[in-house]
Amino acid sequence: MSIYLDHAATTPMIEDAIAAMSAQMVALGNPSSLHTPGRASRKVIEQSRESLAAEIGCAPSEIIFTASGTEANNTALKGLYWKGRSVGRNVVVISAIEHHAILDPAQWLVDHEGAEVILIGTTNEGVLDISKLEELISRRADEIAVISVMHSNNETGVVQPIAEVVAVANAHSIPVHCDGVQSFKKVPLSFSDLQLTALSLSAHKIGGPLGIGILVLKRGLEIPALLHGGGQEREIRSGTLNAPAIVGFAAAARADYPSAQVKQLREELAAGIVRVIPDAYINGSGELLPGIVNATFPGTESDTLLLLFDGQGIAASTGSAC
Ligand SMILES: Cc1ncc(COP(=O)(O)O)c(C=O)c1O
Repeated sequence: MSIYLDHAATTPMIEDAIAAMSAQMVALGNPSSLHTPGRASRKVIEQSRESLAAEIGCAPSEIIFTASGTEANNTALKGLYWKGRSVGRNVVVISAIEHHAILDPAQWLVDHEGAEVILIGTTNEGVLDISKLEELISRRADEIAVISVMHSNNETGVVQPIAEVVAVANAHSIPVHCDGVQSFKKVPLSFSDLQLTALSLSAHKIGGPLGIGILVLKRGLEIPALLHGGGQEREIRSGTLNAPAIVGFAAAARADYPSAQVKQLREELAAGIVRVIPDAYINGSGELLPGIVNATFPGTESDTLLLLFDGQGIAASTGSAC
């Protein structure tokens, strides 16, 4: 029997998403073309955009389709940095626990674009240290181009205090980007309620296809693009839209996530681990994603453990897959 315990890395596609995507894959038409097949393709994309916007709590026009969560993160972080730098702000503030899809573009901005990156650490419980952020903002608000904090962490599952981050940032008109890739559909997450400037999402973490992401970008805000070409998606993300992947994403986002059931399984697994292995302990506390158990097994080599699990048909992870 094989047991897949790595849904933070990627999830199996749900049937509705496969069906929607398969139907669209045989449909012809570039959504930017004016003829009938082109307009038909545009129509399904715009319907999907509306359906996704309802799930995200944003306006349809605030959705920019990208090819991944990684691309959405890069577009937001670099774009908001460049926009800020044009008015003399060169500081990028991120949490120390961001995914590499934020850590690495932030470092790239230091190496190539004159940015100063400041990392804000977490408490022992894995929650962003909001007092450190407040202290930094009280001293250097006028220099900060963008703050980026993930909605929940992909390794610990700890949900972060984004509403508090936005509250301190808004008081100084500092844009906030949030990597919501792990949280979307799993815990409450609304772009408009949180009053975010930008939010990144990815379909393959919620039963949708690989290779499609979303950058939600506040209405009316324009940022420099990474990709230039046909001018699609508010000229922020050029490239022919991937209609099959977009309808697959929308279908996956419409499905209910069985939070209560997954949470119950998490609690059973966590309790079972500490019962069978008394040395082991479970990390993370407070508000957690329903589907992540982060355990430490003292005295073990994580790679060896993973291979032993794999030999038993269990796919687990010792950290981010990439
Ligand atoms: C928190 C987080 N951000 C970003 C990404 C990148 O998303 P994608 O795989 O769509 O590039 C991932 C997953 O890989 C993730 O867990």
